[in-house]
Amino acid sequence: MTKKGFIFDLDGVIVDTAKYHFLAWRKLAKGVGVDFTEIQNEQLKGVSRQKSLEKILEWGNKTLPEEDFNRLMALKNEDYLTHVENMKEDEILPDVPKVLNYLISKEQPLALGSASKNAHTILDKVNLLEKFNAIVDGNGVKIGKPNPEVFLNAAKLLTVNPKDCIVFEDAVAGVKAANAANMISIGIGEQSVLNEADYVFSDFTEISLEFLDDIMSNKITKQNNH
Ligand code: BG6
Ligand code: MG
Repeated sequence: MTKKGFIFDLDGVIVDTAKYHFLAWRKLAKGVGVDFTEIQNEQLKGVSRQKSLEKILEWGNKTLPEEDFNRLMALKNEDYLTHVENMKEDEILPDVPKVLNYLISKEQPLALGSASKNAHTILDKVNLLEKFNAIVDGNGVKIGKPNPEVFLNAAKLLTVNPKDCIVFEDAVAGVKAANAANMISIGIGEQSVLNEADYVFSDFTEISLEFLDDIMSNKITKQNNH
């Protein structure tokens, strides 16, 4: 079996925090007179805190002085963290531990590749910190997804060539980043949203151990040429 690098996004892939981000942003946006839909929310997934607020203000045709902008970002995070605070292992998405443990049993290195600055806190809450050989999060990246930097940094830390890396992502921006890094992109979510991914599964319960074996034995390769 070839050594591959398996890179996992966090929010919406390992844990269902995407819903908490949505709730916190929508509440804050309402407060400044902007409303947005779940469809628009897809554009916020995988995107940094700062870029998310920029987009929301753009949708509402609003501009804010820097001080207010920073205050809103801090408020959003405070609200978001009230949800995170109560998180426990039962918020790990179905079959994620099965997949992580299987790959570990096959001695495959695992990395986290997330835009979140709260990644460490969340992994700690759900007791998954030790599963990862490398963690690249929003604190260690200059240019966010869809730029491939986060995943290329993860590959470097795992000492695996990017073409031998596989990325699990629930965000359009994340799938684009994986493709830009020339890695196999596996979308977790809806095919219609994640249509640029090489493979899409609605969740990890749909990913068989045979599929993982096929990746490790090079039977599964990159599909599209984005
Ligand atoms: C990504 C989420 O994982 O992290 C985005 O999909 C979020 O919705 C981004 O904006 C940054 O997260 P945080 O925790 O640093 O605000
Ligand atoms: Mg995500």
